[in-house]
Amino acid sequence: MQLQDKVVVITGAARGLGRAYAEAMAAEGASVYACDVNSCDETVAAITAAGGSAASGSVDISSMESCQAMADGAVAAFGRIDVLVNNAALYGGLKGGRFESLDEDQWDAVMNVNIKGVWQTCKACVNPLRKAGGGSIINIASLAAVFGMPYGLDYVASKAAVIGMTRGMARELGGDSIRVNAVAPSAVMTESTSEFFGEKMDKAKVVIAKGQVLQRNLETHDLTGTIIYLASDNSAFVTGQTHMVDGGSWFL
Ligand SMILES: NC(=O)c1ccc[n+]([C@@H]2O[C@H](COP(=O)([O-])OP(=O)(O)OC[C@H]3O[C@@H](n4cnc5c(N)ncnc54)[C@H](O)[C@@H]3O)[C@@H](O)[C@H]2O)c1
Repeated sequence: MQLQDKVVVITGAARGLGRAYAEAMAAEGASVYACDVNSCDETVAAITAAGGSAASGSVDISSMESCQAMADGAVAAFGRIDVLVNNAALYGGLKGGRFESLDEDQWDAVMNVNIKGVWQTCKACVNPLRKAGGGSIINIASLAAVFGMPYGLDYVASKAAVIGMTRGMARELGGDSIRVNAVAPSAVMTESTSEFFGEKMDKAKVVIAKGQVLQRNLETHDLTGTIIYLASDNSAFVTGQTHMVDGGSWFL
């Protein structure tokens, strides 16, 4: 059990990767506080049915007040916070296009959730993390940011900012023994990736696999090991890094 006695807050845990992280971390002994704008009841039910420990909270990470309520809820439920996984983001439903044609309201929403939201959850959780004697913040970035994915500049810019914030916060929080790392996956075959690629999904899957050293598509279970490692004491001396989980598409 790599996460025994650790309390983990995960945003965007109602479905997709966030739910997978929640279930995998609980299976490693963590108490999981699963949060989302949508209900996390199914995530919590799956964890408790498997014998794990979980509770859920509602959060809109674009609201500081809501982020504070999330942090307070986690402490009320489990007494402390050791790990924060910043997974919630706008991705699947985004409308792509050449950068000059992107919708301005969508641009603002992406910056508000994907960048400001991460800043706000970190602000809300940092004092409990300090009180716990240190911990781990894991920010979900994307291969899109380092590759420079075309036709989604709002998303690309937001995930590049996540990498920058990871580095800046790692330097500010090292003195508190709080490690801050980013994980940058390539396209995972989730519901939101189907929404993102739409009818081009099958073609995209082939193109993506061919561009990697390991020529298959990334599956959800390929990511959970990296998340557990970064949350655990096995990565106690690792901070400020961006971990590419992309089958060898990009070497940092
Ligand atoms: N799926 C991929 O291929 C892929 C690749 C690289 C990075 N990522 C990143 O991984 C993360 C999860 O991706 P996913 O595929 O599971 O996406 P998803 O859309 O299935 O899940 C995102 C979750 O975040 C929640 N959310 C959105 N806005 C929120 C807000 N304001 N406050 C709280 N919760 C909010 C959604 O309700 C949803 O449950 C995202 O950060 C995404 O950018 C995904």
